[in-house]
Amino acid sequence: MGKVALHYGLKDGKIFYSVEFNSKTVIRNGSLGLSIKGMDLTEFKHFSSKEVTIKESWKTVWGQQDSIDNFFTESNAFFRSKGGKTLKISFRVYDDGFAFRYHIPKQRGSSELRLTEEKSVFELTELEKCWWAWADYNTLEKQYYCTTPDSAVHVACPFTLMRNDGIFMSIHEAAIEDYSTMTLKKIGRDCFNVNLVPWNDGDLVKAKNSLTSPWRAFLFGESPGDLLINNLILNLNTPCALKDVTWIQPMTYCGVWWEMHLGTSTWAAGERHGATTENAKRYIDFAAHAGIKGVLLEGWNTGWEYWGKKGAFDFVTSYPDLDLKEVVLYARSKGIEIIGHHETGGDTETYELRVEEAFNFYRELGIRVVKTGYAGPVSPVGEQHHGQSMVRHYNKIMKLAAKYQLMLDVHEPIILSGLSRTYPNLMTAEGVRGMEWNAWSEGNLPEHTCTLPFTRGIAGPMDYTPGIVDIDLSKHRVERTKWNALHTGKTAVHATVANQLALLIVLYSPLQMLADLPENYVDHPSLQLIHNLPATWDETRILGSAIGEYVYLARRSGNTWYVAGITNETKRTFVSDLPFLDEGVTYKGISIIDAPDAHFEINPEAIEYREVVFQKGDRVNYGLSEGGGFILRLVPEK
Ligand code: NOJ
Ligand code: CA
Repeated sequence: MGKVALHYGLKDGKIFYSVEFNSKTVIRNGSLGLSIKGMDLTEFKHFSSKEVTIKESWKTVWGQQDSIDNFFTESNAFFRSKGGKTLKISFRVYDDGFAFRYHIPKQRGSSELRLTEEKSVFELTELEKCWWAWADYNTLEKQYYCTTPDSAVHVACPFTLMRNDGIFMSIHEAAIEDYSTMTLKKIGRDCFNVNLVPWNDGDLVKAKNSLTSPWRAFLFGESPGDLLINNLILNLNTPCALKDVTWIQPMTYCGVWWEMHLGTSTWAAGERHGATTENAKRYIDFAAHAGIKGVLLEGWNTGWEYWGKKGAFDFVTSYPDLDLKEVVLYARSKGIEIIGHHETGGDTETYELRVEEAFNFYRELGIRVVKTGYAGPVSPVGEQHHGQSMVRHYNKIMKLAAKYQLMLDVHEPIILSGLSRTYPNLMTAEGVRGMEWNAWSEGNLPEHTCTLPFTRGIAGPMDYTPGIVDIDLSKHRVERTKWNALHTGKTAVHATVANQLALLIVLYSPLQMLADLPENYVDHPSLQLIHNLPATWDETRILGSAIGEYVYLARRSGNTWYVAGITNETKRTFVSDLPFLDEGVTYKGISIIDAPDAHFEINPEAIEYREVVFQKGDRVNYGLSEGGGFILRLVPEK
């Protein structure tokens, strides 16, 4: 018997449902239905249903674990409307989650279906608090709030909640294939309705003949950590569509990037141009020395001087001071990958016209990873970043990238929804208020990164770009030129060094950036830990979690364990006897922890680096300073 129970049916012509987790009613009153122009799918006469139970396991191409169990019962219900139309709703019940999706089967003739409302309502019960960001149709780079549910009036997804009996839940969507993305609006006490991002003409979703919604997914857990390792979003997606996945390789990377955000160099050519042949080689040399696998080159191509104008970038022309071919060959000679960059400024129309030529250009050069960006208002003019038109765009680019065997890191994306299970070349995405905000705004407090794994992280990997070791950013203060309106001139990273290093483990991304400048890492003890850092894991264990307060976890790659923890603005102690270690094995370890007097604002760079020996049963007892953290690597001795 699973831990989740679902009840659904028809009452007075309306579809209702309720859900229990651990014998507690977690969704009390749910109602379902769609309004389509010319077709009402909210009043029904009768329904029939079929049930199947599936038990399968699948191997991940990359992820927080090497294999995932997918055990569920699916009930497919066919509701017949008063007007004689059929609405299929598939319900899935897992041990740790529940989901449903709508399907309108193929209509006769070539009728266009125009969705005007999705009436997916759920009334939650016994809520105590929730973690949320304001819904915004154009950006996911937001602060999170922890409040009672009263204040969560219109929120982005994933939306995470805690009940007064300690049950945690997160609400998100899976498999956004050809639909608009979902936000949630409060329509009553603890009662929410799906609110979709509209097209410019007011339609919510447009479809030809048939329509399938993403899954509306509810993740349940007994602790916040349960949510972090809950695989519901991936499991609701279809299996891998690619025959060959051997070319998909997770990696750590560094790159010509932070220096532009700091304002010491520029994307556009000129005196302070960052992506020159010489500077690119400097990063490559550093990557080879530090055991980092990729080097990102931003500002390699022409167009930055016209950023924001239509057709600014052609995506194939390098600036004259960068010999891209020479750089790629140099990188290859050192075993390093160059990560290409396509900033579109939001101009998807130009990008779609040029993308195949641009992908082909990279492929012929031997570039296998592309970071894309959509910083700016999107085209067609009037459409929203998170509407169906952009869903179509991102999914088209994801499939084209697979055709050219390119791995993607998407900035300013649509929120992830687990499509990486089907297209694992969609490696990671931003869609988070990431590190760059520390370079040119009031920045992100330690509480932010303690919240992300349980909110934005539920959706999938995050290209947060952590790992800064020059925390107060003072080394380059004089050379810094303000380029961003939010830059106060007093920016700093609000974390200790140990916290920044721990984020490399805590915030999962199969393309994991070590965002700082080579010169800051070169004599830094962190190099020992960064070297050959994995970007995919066989196993993940949660060792402690409280949303917005702290996260402690351990991840295994082969037989090497990385244990890491972060805290918010409160100092605390992590004590554990590392229960996952093998009996009778001696482990050699390296750790970086906060020095006793470290503090994220006053003394952020004070760390203690230690080499240690461990056996099962030994205890770690680490002090985490305010805004601090720790990282420990354990390798079994032969
Ligand atoms: C915003 C992206 O998040 C950032 O990583 C990138 O450097 C700039 N846009 C320029 O493309
Ligand atoms: Ca961004």
